[in-house]
Amino acid sequence: MSIRPIALSGAHMECVSLDETGPVLTDLLRFAEVSRTPGTAIFRHPHSSWTLTVHEGAQSYPDRPRHHHFGVRVEHRAEIDAAWEYLTAHRDEYGLRQIDPQVVRHGSYSIHLQEPGTNFWEIECYEDVLRKDSGEERLGGVRSRHWDHADEDAPASARGYTPLAFTHGTLGATDADAYGHFVEAVLGLEAHRAYAAVRYIKHPATKHFVVALQVPEPQSFSPNFRFTIGLESAQAVEDAHAELAARRSEVGLTDLGSLEADGAGASFILRDVNGNWWELAA
Ligand SMILES: [Fe+2]
Repeated sequence: MSIRPIALSGAHMECVSLDETGPVLTDLLRFAEVSRTPGTAIFRHPHSSWTLTVHEGAQSYPDRPRHHHFGVRVEHRAEIDAAWEYLTAHRDEYGLRQIDPQVVRHGSYSIHLQEPGTNFWEIECYEDVLRKDSGEERLGGVRSRHWDHADEDAPASARGYTPLAFTHGTLGATDADAYGHFVEAVLGLEAHRAYAAVRYIKHPATKHFVVALQVPEPQSFSPNFRFTIGLESAQAVEDAHAELAARRSEVGLTDLGSLEADGAGASFILRDVNGNWWELAA
């Protein structure tokens, strides 16, 4: 394949109501809303180059599996405990449906919350991992700091914790080895083997990543849950679409959207063999 991404440029999720979900993202997870059109809002995180686009109007999905989530990161372990305290105290105010207590998993000390739009969010900390010599460099550096310096001007004091980066999203794969191959050979991204059944997917130039987690069967989420891969030009998107259309069954796509192009850019979506949606755009 000749797809050469210049970035893992965005994550998309859907929610029931932006008025309910927005304050959780901005107040509790420290995103900034950068634009809003009817039904869609785009958020950025202070030290992260990718965006989060939230689509309104989804059905509530309270039984969403916890492996389907997004994550932000704090610097210090004590902030996770503070976040637990703060979220628990303000649970009703923000309509949080669930808050899972502290857990150590995949090297991270984390809590998880379910926002009113039924998406799960993780607040994670890798302070313990970074004390070990090998903690930073492995796996494309995803566990090292995603920021150059903590924000001295944004003290954790108000809530006791300060998310500094939007680090990851997740998707599902039934066969980690096969999926890692697809990600590298077809999408042109890196797939790092974190554990036997877990791959970390990323662009080499940045640290944010998508965790491919083992699932028993393909996912069935709407295309409003997708990750966007940035290409260098509308022409590159057009070429990628033509190539994938020609090799659709060979590379295992279960859906390939039409090419959307206007004077400003081009994009299309595709669904892989595990049911995950991706968008290629410029
Ligand atoms: Fe996570």
